[in-house]
Amino acid sequence: MASAHLTLDPAFTIGTVRRRLFGGFVEHLGRHVYDGIHEPTHPTAGPDGFRRDVVDLVRELGVSAIRYPGGNFVSGYVWEDGVGPVDERPRRLDLAWHSTETNRVGLHEFQQWLDHVGSELVLAVNLGTRGPKEALELLEYANVPAGTTRAQQRAQNGRQEPFGVRMWCLGNEMDGPWQLGHRDAEDYGKLASMTAKAMRQLDPDLELVACGSSGRYMPTFGEWERTVLHHTYDDVDYISCHAYYEELDGDLASFLASGVHMDGFIESVVAAADHVRSVKRSDKRIDISFDEWNVWYSSRWQEKSRTFTVDDWPVAPRLLEDAYSVADAVTVGGLLVSLLNHADRVTSASLAQLVNVIAPIMTEPGGPAWRQTTFFPFSLTSRLARGSALRVVLDADTTSTAVHGDVPVVAAAATTDGSSTAVFLQNRHTTEPTTVTVDLSRFPATGDVVAQGLWDEDVRAVNDLANPERVRLRSNDTVEVADGVLTIELPPVSWTAVTLG
Ligand code: AHR
Repeated sequence: MASAHLTLDPAFTIGTVRRRLFGGFVEHLGRHVYDGIHEPTHPTAGPDGFRRDVVDLVRELGVSAIRYPGGNFVSGYVWEDGVGPVDERPRRLDLAWHSTETNRVGLHEFQQWLDHVGSELVLAVNLGTRGPKEALELLEYANVPAGTTRAQQRAQNGRQEPFGVRMWCLGNEMDGPWQLGHRDAEDYGKLASMTAKAMRQLDPDLELVACGSSGRYMPTFGEWERTVLHHTYDDVDYISCHAYYEELDGDLASFLASGVHMDGFIESVVAAADHVRSVKRSDKRIDISFDEWNVWYSSRWQEKSRTFTVDDWPVAPRLLEDAYSVADAVTVGGLLVSLLNHADRVTSASLAQLVNVIAPIMTEPGGPAWRQTTFFPFSLTSRLARGSALRVVLDADTTSTAVHGDVPVVAAAATTDGSSTAVFLQNRHTTEPTTVTVDLSRFPATGDVVAQGLWDEDVRAVNDLANPERVRLRSNDTVEVADGVLTIELPPVSWTAVTLG
Protein backbone atom coordinates (compact mmCIF):
# COMPACT_ATOMS: atom_id res chain seq x y z
CA MET A 1 0.00 0.00 0.00
CA ALA A 2 1.28 3.52 -0.81
CA SER A 3 2.00 5.91 2.02
CA ALA A 4 2.45 9.60 2.66
CA HIS A 5 3.61 11.55 5.68
CA LEU A 6 2.75 15.18 6.38
CA THR A 7 4.35 17.53 8.87
CA LEU A 8 2.40 20.61 9.90
CA ASP A 9 3.38 23.47 12.14
CA PRO A 10 0.89 26.25 12.99
CA ALA A 11 3.77 28.76 12.89
CA PHE A 12 4.63 27.99 9.26
CA THR A 13 1.97 29.60 7.14
CA ILE A 14 1.62 30.37 3.44
CA GLY A 15 -0.91 33.17 3.79
CA THR A 16 -4.41 34.09 4.82
CA VAL A 17 -7.19 32.14 3.16
CA ARG A 18 -9.34 34.91 1.70
CA ARG A 19 -13.06 34.33 1.42
CA ARG A 20 -12.86 35.37 -2.23
CA LEU A 21 -10.93 32.17 -2.90
CA PHE A 22 -14.31 30.44 -2.85
CA GLY A 23 -15.96 32.56 -5.49
CA GLY A 24 -18.27 31.50 -8.31
CA PHE A 25 -19.11 32.64 -11.80
CA VAL A 26 -22.49 33.26 -13.44
CA GLU A 27 -22.50 33.85 -17.19
CA HIS A 28 -25.47 34.49 -19.44
CA LEU A 29 -24.93 31.16 -21.15
CA GLY A 30 -27.25 28.25 -21.90
CA ARG A 31 -29.61 27.51 -18.99
CA HIS A 32 -27.51 29.23 -16.37
CA VAL A 33 -29.52 32.40 -15.78
CA TYR A 34 -32.73 31.59 -17.66
CA ASP A 35 -34.29 28.25 -16.64
CA GLY A 36 -31.49 27.91 -14.09
CA ILE A 37 -31.48 30.51 -11.36
CA HIS A 38 -34.43 32.39 -12.92
CA GLU A 39 -37.57 30.44 -13.76
CA PRO A 40 -40.66 32.48 -12.89
CA THR A 41 -43.09 29.58 -13.47
CA HIS A 42 -41.24 27.18 -11.17
CA PRO A 43 -43.20 26.15 -8.03
CA THR A 44 -40.41 27.43 -5.75
CA ALA A 45 -39.96 30.76 -7.58
CA GLY A 46 -40.59 33.95 -5.62
CA PRO A 47 -42.32 37.03 -7.08
CA ASP A 48 -38.93 38.03 -8.53
CA GLY A 49 -38.82 34.82 -10.60
CA PHE A 50 -35.80 33.31 -8.80
CA ARG A 51 -35.99 29.66 -7.79
CA ARG A 52 -35.70 29.37 -4.02
CA ASP A 53 -34.52 25.76 -4.18
CA VAL A 54 -31.53 26.96 -6.22
CA VAL A 55 -30.92 29.86 -3.81
CA ASP A 56 -30.78 27.37 -0.94
CA LEU A 57 -28.25 25.18 -2.75
CA VAL A 58 -26.06 28.15 -3.68
CA ARG A 59 -26.07 29.25 -0.02
CA GLU A 60 -25.13 25.74 1.02
CA LEU A 61 -22.32 25.70 -1.54
CA GLY A 62 -20.76 28.71 0.19
CA VAL A 63 -19.76 30.95 -2.71
CA SER A 64 -18.29 34.20 -1.47
CA ALA A 65 -18.20 36.41 -4.56
CA ILE A 66 -19.71 35.90 -7.99
CA ARG A 67 -18.24 37.15 -11.27
CA TYR A 68 -20.92 38.34 -13.73
CA PRO A 69 -22.15 38.44 -16.55
CA GLY A 70 -19.35 36.63 -18.48
CA GLY A 71 -17.23 35.04 -19.78
CA ASN A 72 -17.25 35.25 -23.54
CA PHE A 73 -20.76 36.71 -23.30
CA VAL A 74 -19.50 39.96 -21.78
CA SER A 75 -17.44 40.82 -24.85
CA GLY A 76 -20.63 41.58 -26.79
CA TYR A 77 -22.80 42.71 -23.88
CA VAL A 78 -24.54 46.08 -23.73
CA TRP A 79 -25.23 46.55 -20.03
CA GLU A 80 -27.82 49.25 -20.68
CA ASP A 81 -30.00 46.58 -22.36
CA GLY A 82 -30.37 44.90 -18.97
CA VAL A 83 -31.71 47.86 -16.96
CA GLY A 84 -35.05 49.68 -17.02
CA PRO A 85 -38.56 48.28 -17.50
CA VAL A 86 -38.25 44.57 -18.28
CA ASP A 87 -40.89 44.58 -21.01
CA GLU A 88 -39.06 47.29 -22.91
CA ARG A 89 -35.70 45.55 -22.94
CA PRO A 90 -34.31 44.51 -26.32
CA ARG A 91 -33.72 40.97 -27.48
CA ARG A 92 -30.19 40.58 -28.82
CA LEU A 93 -28.12 37.95 -30.53
CA ASP A 94 -25.46 36.57 -28.21
CA LEU A 95 -22.67 35.88 -30.67
CA ALA A 96 -20.48 34.10 -28.14
CA TRP A 97 -22.92 31.24 -27.54
CA HIS A 98 -25.11 31.49 -30.63
CA SER A 99 -28.20 32.21 -28.55
CA THR A 100 -30.84 34.90 -28.07
CA GLU A 101 -30.45 37.11 -25.01
CA THR A 102 -33.82 38.35 -23.74
CA ASN A 103 -32.34 40.67 -21.09
CA ARG A 104 -35.06 39.76 -18.61
CA VAL A 105 -32.30 39.51 -16.03
CA GLY A 106 -29.82 42.36 -15.81
CA LEU A 107 -27.81 44.16 -13.15
CA HIS A 108 -30.71 44.96 -10.78
CA GLU A 109 -32.23 41.50 -10.88
CA PHE A 110 -28.88 39.83 -10.49
CA GLN A 111 -28.06 41.93 -7.42
CA GLN A 112 -31.46 40.95 -6.00
CA TRP A 113 -30.53 37.31 -6.48
CA LEU A 114 -27.13 37.90 -4.85
CA ASP A 115 -28.92 39.39 -1.85
CA HIS A 116 -30.78 36.08 -1.53
CA VAL A 117 -27.65 33.95 -1.80
CA GLY A 118 -25.50 36.29 0.31
CA SER A 119 -22.62 36.70 -2.17
CA GLU A 120 -20.62 39.71 -3.36
CA LEU A 121 -21.02 41.03 -6.92
CA VAL A 122 -17.88 41.12 -9.10
CA LEU A 123 -18.54 42.79 -12.45
CA ALA A 124 -16.78 42.25 -15.76
CA VAL A 125 -16.82 45.10 -18.30
CA ASN A 126 -17.00 44.67 -22.05
CA LEU A 127 -13.62 45.46 -23.62
CA GLY A 128 -14.45 43.40 -26.72
CA THR A 129 -16.94 45.54 -28.63
CA ARG A 130 -16.85 48.47 -26.19
CA GLY A 131 -14.27 50.46 -24.23
CA PRO A 132 -13.43 52.84 -21.37
CA LYS A 133 -16.41 55.14 -22.00
CA GLU A 134 -18.99 52.40 -21.49
CA ALA A 135 -17.06 50.95 -18.56
CA LEU A 136 -17.08 54.37 -16.90
CA GLU A 137 -20.78 54.78 -17.48
CA LEU A 138 -21.47 51.41 -15.91
CA LEU A 139 -19.27 52.32 -12.95
CA GLU A 140 -21.13 55.61 -12.54
CA TYR A 141 -24.47 53.82 -12.77
CA ALA A 142 -23.43 51.17 -10.27
CA ASN A 143 -21.42 53.11 -7.70
CA VAL A 144 -22.10 56.85 -7.69
CA PRO A 145 -24.53 57.51 -4.82
CA ALA A 146 -26.49 60.42 -6.35
CA GLY A 147 -26.32 63.67 -8.28
CA THR A 148 -25.52 62.39 -11.79
CA THR A 149 -27.70 61.31 -14.67
CA ARG A 150 -26.61 57.67 -14.40
CA ALA A 151 -27.15 57.62 -10.61
CA GLN A 152 -30.58 59.13 -11.14
CA GLN A 153 -31.37 56.56 -13.81
CA ARG A 154 -30.46 53.81 -11.33
CA ALA A 155 -32.79 55.33 -8.75
CA GLN A 156 -35.59 55.56 -11.33
CA ASN A 157 -34.98 51.91 -12.11
CA GLY A 158 -35.72 51.06 -8.50
CA ARG A 159 -32.44 51.28 -6.65
CA GLN A 160 -31.64 54.44 -4.71
CA GLU A 161 -28.50 53.16 -2.99
CA PRO A 162 -25.45 52.33 -5.12
CA PHE A 163 -24.47 48.74 -5.83
CA GLY A 164 -21.00 49.50 -4.42
CA VAL A 165 -19.14 47.01 -6.61
CA ARG A 166 -15.49 46.79 -5.45
CA MET A 167 -13.95 44.28 -7.83
CA TRP A 168 -14.01 44.69 -11.62
CA CYS A 169 -12.61 42.52 -14.43
CA LEU A 170 -11.25 44.44 -17.41
CA GLY A 171 -12.71 42.29 -20.18
CA ASN A 172 -12.55 38.52 -20.62
CA GLU A 173 -9.98 36.24 -22.29
CA MET A 174 -8.84 38.95 -24.66
CA ASP A 175 -5.94 36.73 -25.80
CA GLY A 176 -8.37 34.19 -27.30
CA PRO A 177 -9.03 34.35 -31.08
CA TRP A 178 -12.61 33.24 -30.29
CA GLN A 179 -13.20 36.39 -28.23
CA LEU A 180 -15.21 39.24 -29.75
CA GLY A 181 -12.73 42.10 -30.06
CA HIS A 182 -9.72 39.81 -29.52
CA ARG A 183 -6.51 41.84 -29.37
CA ASP A 184 -2.82 41.24 -29.11
CA ALA A 185 -1.11 41.82 -25.77
CA GLU A 186 0.17 45.30 -26.67
CA ASP A 187 -3.25 46.53 -27.71
CA TYR A 188 -5.08 44.91 -24.84
CA GLY A 189 -2.49 46.12 -22.32
CA LYS A 190 -2.92 49.71 -23.49
CA LEU A 191 -6.72 49.43 -23.53
CA ALA A 192 -6.83 47.87 -20.05
CA SER A 193 -4.49 50.53 -18.68
CA MET A 194 -6.59 53.31 -20.19
CA THR A 195 -9.80 51.80 -18.83
CA ALA A 196 -8.33 51.19 -15.38
CA LYS A 197 -6.97 54.75 -15.13
CA ALA A 198 -10.35 56.16 -16.12
CA MET A 199 -12.19 53.99 -13.60
CA ARG A 200 -9.75 54.93 -10.85
CA GLN A 201 -10.31 58.62 -11.58
CA LEU A 202 -13.87 57.96 -10.49
CA ASP A 203 -12.93 55.67 -7.58
CA PRO A 204 -9.26 55.08 -6.69
CA ASP A 205 -10.07 52.22 -4.32
CA LEU A 206 -11.52 49.79 -6.85
CA GLU A 207 -9.88 46.37 -7.19
CA LEU A 208 -9.13 45.78 -10.86
CA VAL A 209 -8.30 42.57 -12.70
CA ALA A 210 -6.37 42.52 -15.99
CA CYS A 211 -6.95 39.54 -18.29
CA GLY A 212 -4.18 36.98 -18.17
CA SER A 213 -4.07 34.04 -20.55
CA SER A 214 -7.10 31.88 -21.30
CA GLY A 215 -4.94 28.91 -20.43
CA ARG A 216 -1.36 27.84 -20.02
CA TYR A 217 -1.67 26.10 -23.40
CA MET A 218 -2.10 29.41 -25.27
CA PRO A 219 0.82 30.11 -27.65
CA THR A 220 1.17 33.62 -26.19
CA PHE A 221 1.21 32.41 -22.55
CA GLY A 222 3.89 34.09 -20.43
CA GLU A 223 4.67 36.77 -22.96
CA TRP A 224 1.02 37.87 -22.76
CA GLU A 225 1.27 38.32 -18.96
CA ARG A 226 4.59 40.15 -19.26
CA THR A 227 3.35 42.59 -21.91
CA VAL A 228 -0.07 43.20 -20.35
CA LEU A 229 1.47 43.86 -16.94
CA HIS A 230 4.14 46.05 -18.48
CA HIS A 231 1.28 48.36 -19.54
CA THR A 232 -1.00 47.93 -16.52
CA TYR A 233 1.27 47.23 -13.53
CA ASP A 234 0.46 50.45 -11.68
CA ASP A 235 -3.21 50.38 -12.65
CA VAL A 236 -4.43 46.93 -11.63
CA ASP A 237 -4.36 44.66 -8.58
CA TYR A 238 -4.76 41.26 -10.18
CA ILE A 239 -3.92 39.30 -13.29
CA SER A 240 -6.39 36.54 -14.11
CA CYS A 241 -5.79 32.82 -14.74
CA HIS A 242 -8.27 30.46 -16.42
CA ALA A 243 -7.90 26.67 -16.49
CA TYR A 244 -10.24 23.82 -17.34
CA TYR A 245 -9.31 20.16 -17.05
CA GLU A 246 -10.80 17.03 -18.56
CA GLU A 247 -9.96 13.35 -18.67
CA LEU A 248 -8.64 12.62 -22.14
CA ASP A 249 -8.28 9.19 -23.75
CA GLY A 250 -9.25 7.42 -20.52
CA ASP A 251 -6.06 8.64 -18.80
CA LEU A 252 -7.45 8.81 -15.28
CA ALA A 253 -4.06 9.04 -13.55
CA SER A 254 -3.04 12.21 -15.40
CA PHE A 255 -6.47 13.71 -14.94
CA LEU A 256 -6.46 13.17 -11.17
CA ALA A 257 -3.09 14.95 -11.03
CA SER A 258 -4.42 18.10 -12.76
CA GLY A 259 -3.49 20.01 -9.61
CA VAL A 260 0.16 19.56 -10.59
CA HIS A 261 -0.58 21.47 -13.79
CA MET A 262 -2.44 24.15 -11.84
CA ASP A 263 0.54 24.51 -9.45
CA GLY A 264 2.86 25.08 -12.40
CA PHE A 265 0.44 27.52 -14.03
CA ILE A 266 0.14 29.65 -10.89
CA GLU A 267 3.88 29.62 -10.26
CA SER A 268 4.61 30.69 -13.86
CA VAL A 269 2.18 33.60 -13.67
CA VAL A 270 3.65 34.67 -10.32
CA ALA A 271 7.10 34.56 -11.98
CA ALA A 272 5.88 36.69 -14.92
CA ALA A 273 4.27 39.23 -12.57
CA ASP A 274 7.34 39.41 -10.35
CA HIS A 275 9.57 39.83 -13.37
CA VAL A 276 7.63 42.97 -14.31
CA ARG A 277 7.83 44.11 -10.67
CA SER A 278 11.62 43.85 -10.76
CA VAL A 279 11.92 45.61 -14.13
CA LYS A 280 9.73 48.42 -12.82
CA ARG A 281 11.59 48.49 -9.48
CA SER A 282 8.14 48.45 -7.91
CA ASP A 283 7.19 47.59 -4.33
CA LYS A 284 3.69 46.69 -5.43
CA ARG A 285 2.74 43.03 -5.75
CA ILE A 286 0.22 41.77 -8.29
CA ASP A 287 -1.99 38.91 -7.08
CA ILE A 288 -3.79 36.27 -9.10
CA SER A 289 -7.51 36.14 -9.60
CA PHE A 290 -8.06 32.55 -10.77
CA ASP A 291 -11.42 33.61 -12.05
CA GLU A 292 -12.31 30.53 -14.13
CA TRP A 293 -11.35 27.04 -13.03
CA ASN A 294 -13.10 23.68 -13.13
CA VAL A 295 -13.37 20.34 -14.85
CA TRP A 296 -14.94 20.94 -18.27
CA TYR A 297 -15.25 18.38 -21.07
CA SER A 298 -14.59 21.17 -23.54
CA SER A 299 -13.57 18.82 -26.36
CA ARG A 300 -17.22 17.62 -26.41
CA TRP A 301 -18.34 21.24 -26.62
CA GLN A 302 -15.98 21.91 -29.56
CA GLU A 303 -17.69 19.02 -31.36
CA LYS A 304 -21.18 20.30 -30.61
CA SER A 305 -20.45 23.90 -31.58
CA ARG A 306 -19.66 22.72 -35.12
CA THR A 307 -23.29 21.65 -35.50
CA PHE A 308 -24.77 25.15 -34.97
CA THR A 309 -26.85 26.30 -37.91
CA VAL A 310 -26.63 29.91 -38.99
CA ASP A 311 -30.28 30.81 -38.39
CA ASP A 312 -30.74 28.96 -35.11
CA TRP A 313 -30.53 31.37 -32.12
CA PRO A 314 -32.37 29.63 -29.26
CA VAL A 315 -33.20 31.15 -25.88
CA ALA A 316 -31.51 29.31 -23.01
CA PRO A 317 -30.46 26.16 -24.90
CA ARG A 318 -28.88 23.23 -23.06
CA LEU A 319 -25.18 24.04 -23.41
CA LEU A 320 -22.12 22.78 -21.53
CA GLU A 321 -24.26 20.63 -19.22
CA ASP A 322 -21.52 18.26 -18.12
CA ALA A 323 -22.57 15.51 -15.70
CA TYR A 324 -19.75 15.13 -13.18
CA SER A 325 -18.49 11.80 -11.91
CA VAL A 326 -16.79 10.88 -8.65
CA ALA A 327 -13.44 11.06 -10.48
CA ASP A 328 -14.28 14.59 -11.64
CA ALA A 329 -15.11 15.62 -8.07
CA VAL A 330 -11.86 14.12 -6.76
CA THR A 331 -10.01 16.16 -9.39
CA VAL A 332 -11.86 19.31 -8.31
CA GLY A 333 -10.76 18.50 -4.75
CA GLY A 334 -7.16 18.33 -6.01
CA LEU A 335 -7.53 21.73 -7.71
CA LEU A 336 -8.80 23.22 -4.44
CA VAL A 337 -5.68 21.84 -2.75
CA SER A 338 -3.57 23.68 -5.33
CA LEU A 339 -5.43 26.96 -4.76
CA LEU A 340 -5.01 26.69 -0.98
CA ASN A 341 -1.30 25.96 -1.35
CA HIS A 342 -0.92 29.27 -3.23
CA ALA A 343 -3.08 31.34 -0.89
CA ASP A 344 -0.32 33.94 -0.63
CA ARG A 345 -0.72 34.92 -4.31
CA VAL A 346 -4.09 33.52 -5.38
CA THR A 347 -6.32 35.77 -3.34
CA SER A 348 -9.45 35.43 -5.44
CA ALA A 349 -10.84 32.55 -7.51
CA SER A 350 -14.11 31.60 -9.20
CA LEU A 351 -15.38 28.11 -9.80
CA ALA A 352 -16.73 28.20 -13.36
CA GLN A 353 -19.64 27.98 -13.35
CA LEU A 354 -22.52 27.66 -10.86
CA VAL A 355 -25.85 26.36 -12.19
CA ASN A 356 -26.46 23.98 -15.14
CA VAL A 357 -23.45 25.19 -17.15
CA ILE A 358 -20.36 23.16 -16.12
CA ALA A 359 -21.87 23.50 -12.71
CA PRO A 360 -22.01 22.00 -9.22
CA ILE A 361 -25.80 22.57 -9.22
CA MET A 362 -28.24 21.25 -11.83
CA THR A 363 -31.92 22.02 -12.36
CA GLU A 364 -34.79 20.66 -14.37
CA PRO A 365 -37.40 23.16 -15.63
CA GLY A 366 -40.47 22.75 -13.41
CA GLY A 367 -38.62 20.00 -11.56
CA PRO A 368 -35.95 19.49 -8.94
CA ALA A 369 -32.51 21.01 -8.36
CA TRP A 370 -29.67 18.77 -7.24
CA ARG A 371 -26.03 18.69 -6.21
CA GLN A 372 -23.50 17.34 -8.70
CA THR A 373 -20.55 15.38 -7.29
CA THR A 374 -18.32 18.46 -7.59
CA PHE A 375 -20.60 20.32 -5.18
CA PHE A 376 -19.17 18.42 -2.22
CA PRO A 377 -15.44 19.21 -2.30
CA PHE A 378 -16.20 22.86 -2.97
CA SER A 379 -18.81 23.29 -0.24
CA LEU A 380 -16.76 21.45 2.35
CA THR A 381 -13.54 23.32 1.56
CA SER A 382 -15.35 26.66 1.55
CA ARG A 383 -16.83 25.83 4.95
CA LEU A 384 -13.73 24.34 6.60
CA ALA A 385 -10.75 26.28 5.19
CA ARG A 386 -10.34 29.11 7.69
CA GLY A 387 -7.60 31.38 8.95
CA SER A 388 -4.21 30.66 7.38
CA ALA A 389 -3.06 28.09 4.84
CA LEU A 390 -0.24 26.05 6.37
CA ARG A 391 2.97 25.08 4.63
CA VAL A 392 2.59 21.30 4.30
CA VAL A 393 5.84 19.32 4.31
CA LEU A 394 4.95 16.22 2.32
CA ASP A 395 6.97 13.05 2.11
CA ALA A 396 5.00 10.73 -0.16
CA ASP A 397 5.34 7.77 -2.48
CA THR A 398 4.85 8.65 -6.10
CA THR A 399 2.48 7.44 -8.75
CA SER A 400 3.26 7.72 -12.45
CA THR A 401 1.22 9.67 -14.96
CA ALA A 402 1.62 9.97 -18.71
CA VAL A 403 1.20 13.74 -18.73
CA HIS A 404 2.84 14.95 -15.51
CA GLY A 405 5.46 12.24 -14.94
CA ASP A 406 5.84 10.84 -11.40
CA VAL A 407 3.75 12.82 -8.94
CA PRO A 408 3.20 12.49 -5.17
CA VAL A 409 0.43 9.94 -4.67
CA VAL A 410 -1.27 12.33 -2.26
CA ALA A 411 -1.99 16.02 -2.71
CA ALA A 412 -2.44 17.84 0.59
CA ALA A 413 -3.29 21.26 1.98
CA ALA A 414 -4.07 22.42 5.50
CA THR A 415 -5.52 25.48 7.21
CA THR A 416 -5.87 26.63 10.78
CA ASP A 417 -7.58 29.50 12.53
CA GLY A 418 -6.07 28.72 15.93
CA SER A 419 -9.05 26.84 17.30
CA SER A 420 -9.72 24.44 14.45
CA THR A 421 -7.52 22.86 11.83
CA ALA A 422 -8.52 21.26 8.53
CA VAL A 423 -6.45 18.95 6.35
CA PHE A 424 -7.50 18.32 2.74
CA LEU A 425 -6.23 15.15 1.10
CA GLN A 426 -6.54 13.73 -2.39
CA ASN A 427 -5.47 10.17 -3.10
CA ARG A 428 -4.40 10.13 -6.75
CA HIS A 429 -3.81 6.41 -6.86
CA THR A 430 -6.26 4.87 -9.34
CA THR A 431 -6.44 1.43 -7.76
CA GLU A 432 -4.79 1.35 -4.30
CA PRO A 433 -5.55 2.92 -0.95
CA THR A 434 -2.89 5.15 0.61
CA THR A 435 -2.05 5.40 4.29
CA VAL A 436 -1.44 8.95 5.43
CA THR A 437 0.16 9.98 8.72
CA VAL A 438 0.18 13.59 9.90
CA ASP A 439 2.61 14.80 12.54
CA LEU A 440 0.53 17.06 14.79
CA SER A 441 3.02 17.29 17.66
CA ARG A 442 3.37 21.05 17.17
CA PHE A 443 -0.35 21.54 17.70
CA PRO A 444 -2.05 21.90 21.07
CA ALA A 445 -4.62 19.20 21.95
CA THR A 446 -6.55 18.39 18.80
CA GLY A 447 -10.05 17.69 20.14
CA ASP A 448 -12.58 15.78 18.03
CA VAL A 449 -11.39 14.40 14.70
CA VAL A 450 -13.80 13.98 11.80
CA ALA A 451 -13.00 12.81 8.27
CA GLN A 452 -15.44 13.01 5.40
CA GLY A 453 -15.10 12.97 1.66
CA LEU A 454 -15.88 11.36 -1.65
CA TRP A 455 -14.98 7.98 -3.12
CA ASP A 456 -16.94 5.16 -4.68
CA GLU A 457 -16.50 1.65 -6.03
CA ASP A 458 -17.73 3.18 -9.31
CA VAL A 459 -15.61 6.25 -9.99
CA ARG A 460 -17.86 7.03 -12.96
CA ALA A 461 -20.97 7.36 -10.78
CA VAL A 462 -22.87 10.66 -11.19
CA ASN A 463 -25.89 12.38 -9.68
CA ASP A 464 -28.62 13.01 -12.22
CA LEU A 465 -32.34 13.64 -12.53
CA ALA A 466 -33.14 9.95 -12.16
CA ASN A 467 -30.85 9.49 -9.17
CA PRO A 468 -29.93 12.87 -7.71
CA GLU A 469 -28.41 11.51 -4.51
CA ARG A 470 -26.44 8.59 -5.87
CA VAL A 471 -23.16 10.21 -4.73
CA ARG A 472 -22.94 11.84 -1.30
CA LEU A 473 -20.33 12.73 1.26
CA ARG A 474 -19.12 9.71 3.24
CA SER A 475 -17.36 9.40 6.59
CA ASN A 476 -13.94 7.86 6.73
CA ASP A 477 -13.90 5.98 10.03
CA THR A 478 -10.29 4.86 9.71
CA VAL A 479 -9.11 8.23 11.05
CA GLU A 480 -7.51 8.30 14.50
CA VAL A 481 -5.07 10.41 16.50
CA ALA A 482 -2.58 8.84 18.89
CA ASP A 483 0.52 10.40 20.46
CA GLY A 484 0.31 13.48 18.28
CA VAL A 485 0.08 11.53 15.02
CA LEU A 486 -3.03 11.36 12.87
CA THR A 487 -3.45 8.25 10.75
CA ILE A 488 -5.99 7.73 8.01
CA GLU A 489 -6.42 5.30 5.16
CA LEU A 490 -7.54 6.97 1.94
CA PRO A 491 -9.45 4.86 -0.60
CA PRO A 492 -8.20 4.99 -4.21
CA VAL A 493 -9.49 7.96 -6.26
CA SER A 494 -10.68 9.85 -3.20
CA TRP A 495 -10.85 13.31 -1.71
CA THR A 496 -11.11 13.78 2.05
CA ALA A 497 -11.35 16.66 4.50
CA VAL A 498 -10.21 15.99 8.05
CA THR A 499 -11.14 18.44 10.79
CA LEU A 500 -9.54 18.68 14.19
CA GLY A 501 -11.02 20.63 17.04
O1 AHR B 1 -16.88 29.13 -18.77
C1 AHR B 1 -17.11 28.94 -20.13
C2 AHR B 1 -16.24 29.85 -21.00
O2 AHR B 1 -14.91 29.47 -20.84
C3 AHR B 1 -16.22 31.31 -20.65
O3 AHR B 1 -17.27 32.02 -21.23
C4 AHR B 1 -14.92 31.77 -21.22
O4 AHR B 1 -14.38 32.85 -20.52
C5 AHR B 1 -14.05 30.54 -21.17
O5 AHR B 1 -13.43 30.28 -22.38
